[in-house]
Amino acid sequence: MERDRWSSKLIFIFAAVGSAVGLGNIWRFPYLAAKYGGGAFLIPYLVMLLLIGIPLLILEFAIGQRMQVGAVGSFSRIKQRLSSIGFGAVLSGFIVVSYYAVVMAWCLLYIFYSFGLKWGADTKGFFFSNVLHISPNISQMGTVSVPILLALIVVWALIYFSIWKGVKSVGQVVLVTMPLPVILLIVLLIRGITLPGAIDGILLYLKPNFKALLDIEVWQAAMSQIFFTLSLAFGIMIAYASYQHEKSDISKSAITTSLLNSGISIVAGFAVFSTLGYMAQSSGVPLQELAQSSGPSLAFVVFPKALSMMPFAAVFAVSFFVMLITLGIDSAFSLVEAVATVVHDKYPHVKREHVSLWVSVAGFLTGIVFTTNAGLYYLDIVDHFITSYGLVLVGILETLAVGWLYGAAKLRTYINEVSDIKIGIWWDVLIKLVIPVLLVLLFISGIYKDFSQVYGGYPAKYVAIFGWGMLFVVLLASVFLSLFSEE
Ligand code: PHE
Repeated sequence: MERDRWSSKLIFIFAAVGSAVGLGNIWRFPYLAAKYGGGAFLIPYLVMLLLIGIPLLILEFAIGQRMQVGAVGSFSRIKQRLSSIGFGAVLSGFIVVSYYAVVMAWCLLYIFYSFGLKWGADTKGFFFSNVLHISPNISQMGTVSVPILLALIVVWALIYFSIWKGVKSVGQVVLVTMPLPVILLIVLLIRGITLPGAIDGILLYLKPNFKALLDIEVWQAAMSQIFFTLSLAFGIMIAYASYQHEKSDISKSAITTSLLNSGISIVAGFAVFSTLGYMAQSSGVPLQELAQSSGPSLAFVVFPKALSMMPFAAVFAVSFFVMLITLGIDSAFSLVEAVATVVHDKYPHVKREHVSLWVSVAGFLTGIVFTTNAGLYYLDIVDHFITSYGLVLVGILETLAVGWLYGAAKLRTYINEVSDIKIGIWWDVLIKLVIPVLLVLLFISGIYKDFSQVYGGYPAKYVAIFGWGMLFVVLLASVFLSLFSEE
């Protein structure tokens, strides 16, 4: 059967950038920059981008395009048993999308709350009590929150209809979901930097503290951010590249995708910090304190408050949450598409619509656990363990398999045959040695930290179930699936 194709080169880049640019650019990057040395964080960030991000993205694009199949098929063509790497990648991705969609469901609810600024003065109380109905501790699961569940159904319907025909529909959807959030980001940026107090925020963001560079943790944070932000090790970029023609350019696409993604992160930092600067000035809360709020708190507690203080608050609030949802959706459906590609490769006669539907339904059902009153706690643990270990482990195996078994030099010959920008032997060295060694160090230091202190201060039992247990299940399932899928 003829493989589906992207309708143009531009659409492929849009889809790849759409996957890379997500919630991580808006709330993870600026927060890391503030925490780890302000402007000086850009140094480890850019070093890791050049050392790990771009070379690995080239690898994923190349292997998918060369093999013309998704992650599982790509690795099994190197060696049968290696399909487990592909399974590990897409299973981890499947878990990520199950909670990523829940965060998008919160964003969807907040679009409605934006009309009339329903969160009032106590945005923290509103988010945790009125929206999440959070239970006092992780051991009380409570019940499913109905509004979040309904919003989650809508989010999954949006995801499903974005991918139901595979890359054909993805190609049409990204024409909107890639540029729209960027335009909204620019609107919010202009609004942010023209507010009084903005400059204090920007100074905090950019003022370099070079001492931070001596701290190994800063380098680790930069490395895992690069992984996460480029959507590496989930089989996404492999799947997307498998829909390219075999003669398409690789290295230029990878470099373009990476630079656009990081550019958007850096711009997002200006938008976020100028707004925080304004808020600090008008509310008297110290800027440092605001900047320390990461993840959910930044988007659902600090930002709603900052937005309410502005003239035309509702307009900017709606823009902010529409931006988050349109940013998130192409990352979310790229994960589903990575899974659907693997299933479709294996069962090419099953209709694409049906594969997409079943993967979406499964993702929705898995995500229900995160809509319970203790959902945020579960989400926090699962996120930590998947991003600290699942991803890193897949990255290690991926570079070893391609570098040593397939042959970095062989793949590079192919890349240079089809690409305008030729890459040198340095790439082989990075893939075979430097990246796996760095990733192993990251892996070990993570294990060391998690063994010396239970993550997040949760009771050990829950970290064992949602963290280690979940990882173990993914690992076991990957090995089993690779045994059963032998051709
Ligand atoms: N790259 C996305 C972001 O920065 C997150 C993501 C990771 C999406 C992995 C898909 C897979 O938000």
